[in-house]
Amino acid sequence: MEVRVLPHGQRLDVPQGENLLSALQQHGLPISYSCMAGRCGTCRCRLIEGDVRQAGDNHADAPNDIDQQGGRQLLACQSIVMGPCTIEIPEPDEVVVHPARILKGTVTALADLTHDIKLIRLAPAKPLSFSPGQYAMLQFTPDHIRPYSMARLPGDGELEFHVRTVAGGRVTGYIREQLKIGDTVRVSGPLGTSYLRTRNDDPILCIAGGTGLAPVLSIVRGAIAAGLSNPIHLYFGIRSPRDAYGLDWLNELAQRHPRLRIDVISTVPGNDRDLRTGLVTEAVAQDYGDLTGWRAYLCGAPPMVEAATALLRDRGIRGDHIYADAFYASSA
Ligand SMILES: Cc1cc2nc3c(=O)[nH]c(=O)nc-3n(C[C@H](O)[C@H](O)[C@H](O)COP(=O)(O)OP(=O)(O)OC[C@H]3O[C@@H](n4cnc5c(N)ncnc54)[C@H](O)[C@@H]3O)c2cc1C
Ligand code: FES
Repeated sequence: MEVRVLPHGQRLDVPQGENLLSALQQHGLPISYSCMAGRCGTCRCRLIEGDVRQAGDNHADAPNDIDQQGGRQLLACQSIVMGPCTIEIPEPDEVVVHPARILKGTVTALADLTHDIKLIRLAPAKPLSFSPGQYAMLQFTPDHIRPYSMARLPGDGELEFHVRTVAGGRVTGYIREQLKIGDTVRVSGPLGTSYLRTRNDDPILCIAGGTGLAPVLSIVRGAIAAGLSNPIHLYFGIRSPRDAYGLDWLNELAQRHPRLRIDVISTVPGNDRDLRTGLVTEAVAQDYGDLTGWRAYLCGAPPMVEAATALLRDRGIRGDHIYADAFYASSA
């Protein structure tokens, strides 16, 4: 059965019933993957036409929807080729492969970053390779498992996470009340597609809401470590001035990257003259009428990520250049 692969139009001969990701790999086509289980979204591609069936359609991260151009979003690792078809895979220069693994980490530091945000540092038993912006599933006990984003870089040795306590939250309650230095945490990952793209000169917009700053810090640190000179405008949205954290880290990064501009926007006004007031999306809308040619990384609460995505598309950023990991609540 013929599978045509865009953007370059390769034609593959694939047996009916073959897994799409396996077929692409066997023919040497570059496609990012990680979990191989339909969880991370890394292997996302588009079905333009034809017969591909997606397993695990009941999973929240297995998109079924038809996009604006009439294609259907697919997870290649969960898709079975049933008939001739045309699919589109992301640009080859975007591909990263960090096979997901499970390893043990030992808690080496626990600190309060704000009244409700904790820093957790883990020393992994083996190095974890990941791209800046990705996240991992942290299993504190068999009943306390949640995704959290890495704030630093893989070469830093220890893994760092920033966790905001959610009122009545099961796992964040456990972290606040029971987690202690020396505890073992199971780390599965890396996961996620909102990782830093390094092979382009496009200006970069980063929008972080709350602890969405963690992956955004990793992205900016990664850009500096990779020697990128792309302009970066980082918006950090908080609810009130007491939610601000990491400002010293941000200032230090701004000194190392002369084209990094940082705006902190608080919904509730404060006394600090450097603090802008309003919603982070309002600030971006005020600052930019046209963002054509930019790439954007969005991390934080789902309503912010959804509103920012709509705004950025409206301002001219291509849909496939908006990389987002919204902090959706877990269902279990
Ligand atoms: C890809 C990804 C990356 C993430 N990275 C981070 C991170 O780096 N730092 C971080 O702090 N969180 C992050 N999260 C959110 C995190 O995984 C948990 O959802 C969050 O810590 C709450 O867990 P809980 O068990 O305490 O709350 P639950 O017991 O699951 O939920 C308790 C109540 O709070 C609501 N709720 C759950 N999460 C939130 C939230 N984030 N905001 C508001 N209400 C919520 C639920 O709907 C429920 O009503 C990420 C989520 C995803 C999907
Ligand atoms: S590799 Fe397919 S969803 Fe993770």
